[in-house]
Amino acid sequence: MKIIRDPVKIQNLLSKFSNKKKIGFVPTMGALHEGHLSLIRKARKENDIVVVSIFVNPLQFGPKEDFKKYPRPIKKDLYLCKKENVDFVFYPDVKSYYKKDHLTFVEVEKLSSILCGRYRKGHFKGVTTVVTKLFNTVKPDVAYFGQKDLQQAIIIKKMVEDLNFPIKIKISPIVRDSDGLALSSRNVYLNPEERKRALSLYRSLKEGFNLWSKGEKNAKKIQRCILNVLYEGIDTKKDSIDYVEIIDTESLEKKEIIDKKSAAVIAVRIGSTRLIDNIIFDKDSNGLYNSND
Ligand code: PAJ
Repeated sequence: MKIIRDPVKIQNLLSKFSNKKKIGFVPTMGALHEGHLSLIRKARKENDIVVVSIFVNPLQFGPKEDFKKYPRPIKKDLYLCKKENVDFVFYPDVKSYYKKDHLTFVEVEKLSSILCGRYRKGHFKGVTTVVTKLFNTVKPDVAYFGQKDLQQAIIIKKMVEDLNFPIKIKISPIVRDSDGLALSSRNVYLNPEERKRALSLYRSLKEGFNLWSKGEKNAKKIQRCILNVLYEGIDTKKDSIDYVEIIDTESLEKKEIIDKKSAAVIAVRIGSTRLIDNIIFDKDSNGLYNSND
């Protein structure tokens, strides 16, 4: 496994494979867990060369967010990548990847200002800018993203379509801990009490999903059901709900009636930790993204 920090060096190395080998790419911010590993395993199965990037992207963190304290267990991450037979780890440092005079940004309008974008101003602009840079550095054939960050995945898909990137985007299902909590690098911030309260996220989504399974198609009613379960499980003195919405999985627009392309998406602050989760209204995939193509 080659670990490369210099963007020009990896770009040159990988360009030798273009048109000869299929390159699968998994962009991450490190602190790898089974969610990330599921993407890496999928990439390993489907490609000749697997590239993982580890880069805590300052551009996607707000001034009051956790950029400084975001976990960076690089040794463990490299060990995990090696175990999964990754070919290249791209691990740039901030100064070499964003030059002092960086002026160019990529933004997917509309989609990046709603849901999480309302509460994290500039976040998705930071994501789409770094993902564009990463795509230009790695030039993958296929790139893998998780359903865990559903809005992010949908925004990237739109960007790739709008800007003609010759890259296939694949979305993989959410991986959860045994207690149901969606795996996230930020879960380490939760103390045991907070973690218990955090379980109400998935519990509420499951309740909403069950109500829908029984025949309820009215989005407002499902939304209310999810909110009720959430309010039972959180401590409103310490926690707060950013949003609970039923949305279309392509346009992200709010739905009135739940049909095939619908998902419930939620964002909740447990103490000072912001958590997101979602469920797709699809009985066959049990609420998970179904992307076999
Ligand atoms: P990060 O949070 O490290 O996540 C990297 C990828 O892993 C994302 O596509 C995310 O959706 C996926 N992922 C995270 N938790 C998951 C889970 N429990 N199950 C399945 N997939 C999961 O997302 C980012 O980094 C950054 O925004 C990035 C795209 C790298 C740009 O900086």
